[in-house]
Amino acid sequence: MAESAVSFAVERIGDALLQKAIFLKGVHEQVDRMQRELKRMQCFLKDADAKQQEDERVRHWVSEIRDVAYDAEDAIDAFIFNVESGRTKFFPCRMFKKLVSSCKVGKEIEAIQIKIQDISKSRETYGINSIGEAISQAGQRLQKLRYISPLVKEEIIVGLKEDTDKLVEELVKGDERRRAVSMVGMGGIGKTTLAKKVYNDSRVMDHFRFCRAWAYVSQDCRPRDVFQNILNQIPYNPTGDEARKIEKMQEHEFGDFLHELLKEQRFLVVLDDVWESDDWERLAKAFPKESNGSRLLLTTRKNDVALQADAQSVPYEVQLLSEAESWKLFCRSAIPGNFTEICPPELKELGEKMVKKCAGLPLAIVVLGGLLSSKKQLPTMWEEVFNKLRAHFAESNGVDAILSLIANRLFYA
Ligand SMILES: Nc1ncnc2c1ncn2[C@@H]1O[C@H](COP(=O)(O)OP(=O)(O)O)[C@@H](O)[C@H]1O
Ligand SMILES: [Mg+2]
Repeated sequence: MAESAVSFAVERIGDALLQKAIFLKGVHEQVDRMQRELKRMQCFLKDADAKQQEDERVRHWVSEIRDVAYDAEDAIDAFIFNVESGRTKFFPCRMFKKLVSSCKVGKEIEAIQIKIQDISKSRETYGINSIGEAISQAGQRLQKLRYISPLVKEEIIVGLKEDTDKLVEELVKGDERRRAVSMVGMGGIGKTTLAKKVYNDSRVMDHFRFCRAWAYVSQDCRPRDVFQNILNQIPYNPTGDEARKIEKMQEHEFGDFLHELLKEQRFLVVLDDVWESDDWERLAKAFPKESNGSRLLLTTRKNDVALQADAQSVPYEVQLLSEAESWKLFCRSAIPGNFTEICPPELKELGEKMVKKCAGLPLAIVVLGGLLSSKKQLPTMWEEVFNKLRAHFAESNGVDAILSLIANRLFYA
């Protein structure tokens, strides 16, 4: 369905922005704009989906959105060089051929942006309304917008078992007081990955089976969107009238409304990537402090945010990977289809030297692995990459440096 294709693209673009400092030099603004447009368009997709049964033009409109969402996702995938996509299944070779230079990707994004604007304009012509209007006409219940699905690809995950157990315990055991449990650590260390694992853990799913939601906050925190997203995931079925009212609610009203709904519940809400204390303050209004054993699980780069959210909970510091874990992740990322820690013997020494440069940061490892996975598994090819790394770093292990080098130089070499 077009709706989920757009949601998926919005999610991917969100991820890309997250890593913008490293990857999006030069095209950040364009990507940001593209994400906003796609997000806006999401609101209209429900109505379009309903109407496309009857109207050929609307059907066409929906398929155009779907295509553009896929294009957007492709361009972003290409640009950030995400590792999950680096595996053969998700990142076909055609993608690499497409990537001649960042300039080309920038142009591609601009073209997509123009397409999105055109499609958006044609909406009115086809009489496609926003989600609230559509519901009032159809007298239907507010259907759920697809939220960002927090699934983890288990086969690539290394470690995290102990961390998961500890965090699960924090969520399902202990005081009835509503607590905010935070995970802190630098970008790319694995906070979101760990949060997803915890969120999908059977003990957590069971304990919060009636009320569980995942919301992606990001640097560009928009509380109203976050509240809407949460509302879509919790048990609540508004009438047409109610849905219309909700549609018109401003941020604070929406927050109060969600607060009322959550008051009686034992809820778990994940707020992924909260950047600032102010953002937390705006979001916090929606979460009642009743003693129902409810939990908020935050991921953040800042200790301040964690302490602000709950001064009585000790922030959970996500650790860098150990040497053995780094190696395992590297083998899984660099060699497509490999889910072991075994690497061809002739590549082992070179691989180990390169992994060392990543200093245990999973993002650096998966980016490096993704890069190597696109090359032939020959010592000469790996040596080429290694020499470039070595020349750049001399003896240092600067993680930011490895990422920017990979993103900007090696990748396009
Ligand atoms: N334990 C792990 N095993 C495998 N891959 C991991 C692990 N932790 C993180 N990654 C990968 O590293 C990248 C960054 O992780 P992420 O959870 O997004 O970091 P953060 O949220 O802290 O910025 C992702 O591509 C993720 O899949
Ligand atoms: Mg994250």
